[in-house]
Amino acid sequence: MKIAFCCTGTKPEPWIEGLRAALPGAAVEVWQAGARAADHAVVWAPPQQFFDEQPQLKGVFNIGAGVDALLKLKLPPKATVVRLDDAGMSVQMAEYVCHAVIRHFREFDAYEADIRVGKWSYRKPAERSDFPIGVMGLGVLGERVARALTQFEFPVMGWSRSVKQISGVRCFASAAQFDDFLAASRVLVNLLPLTAETLNIMRLDTLSKLQPGGYVINVARGAHLVDEDLLTLLDSGHLAGAMLDVFRTEPLPPVHPFWQHPKITITPHTSARTLRDQSIAQIAGKIRSLEAGQPIAGTVDLTRGY
Ligand code: NAP
Ligand code: GLV
Repeated sequence: MKIAFCCTGTKPEPWIEGLRAALPGAAVEVWQAGARAADHAVVWAPPQQFFDEQPQLKGVFNIGAGVDALLKLKLPPKATVVRLDDAGMSVQMAEYVCHAVIRHFREFDAYEADIRVGKWSYRKPAERSDFPIGVMGLGVLGERVARALTQFEFPVMGWSRSVKQISGVRCFASAAQFDDFLAASRVLVNLLPLTAETLNIMRLDTLSKLQPGGYVINVARGAHLVDEDLLTLLDSGHLAGAMLDVFRTEPLPPVHPFWQHPKITITPHTSARTLRDQSIAQIAGKIRSLEAGQPIAGTVDLTRGY
């Protein structure tokens, strides 16, 4: 069996070594133009030339959870496309979102600013019941995040395409219940995949439906959010702030207003990182299953886009 590794911006050596150790007998090589045909590919943002030269691929394994960039390419016709299915990401995402919510709810930035100028002061504790949190996307990551938030006794809502039942989470489903979900939420967490249906989903008319004093946490993709609309709603006071990990252009351009905005906290697309060892173990296991004709989790539905 031959495996081609084609991951832009990723140091290949440790991946190659790990994949060889996990799949003894497989020939694992970094792809170069003109390389011989492989059975499976491990990819991140590969060039179109890679797929043009490898139409025979049986499996394409993305080393991230989101496949929006991959699905813009013309893919090998018979390949099963597989994304990372947690592989250590959901606990990181739960940490990040709980941190963002608690930092906002407990006003830790304001305390930090006071302490920096030598001020010992108290703020009136906010009511948890005044901070209902809506999680958009209840998949591998969103469900873990929603469950984690319930541990802090916030009212938690979730929204997905299909109907879900999650203990402690009020679940909404489909476009028909989207407005009710937004109206019930003050803090909005985005964990949707980026598809034609979810592009620009956080914009003036949707974010305006959040409860006054709303707060936006975007940890999915930058193109879910219309940047100018967020700024408008922050300026009008309808939204109190935002914590953003993902952007339309990454790295965020130096002139972008998000860098200096007093109500926006940014991080450099780091909320849930690909963990190499866990990812290699997962991908190797799935390659073995695919070769054995067994079903695997995390296969991408190309028509749905996630
Ligand atoms: P997932 O398991 O595929 O879950 C996607 C969820 O979104 C599902 O609950 C799905 O509903 C829902 N959904 C999709 N389209 C919808 C629509 N039109 N309306 C309502 N709900 C819709 O994905 P995941 O593993 O949780 O990952 C989610 C996203 O997180 C990824 O696509 C990626 O963009 C992002 N991500 C970001 C980072 C980072 O570091 N910032 C790291 C990893 C992932 P159903 O359950 O009904 O299908
Ligand atoms: C990161 O953003 C991922 O999709 O894994």
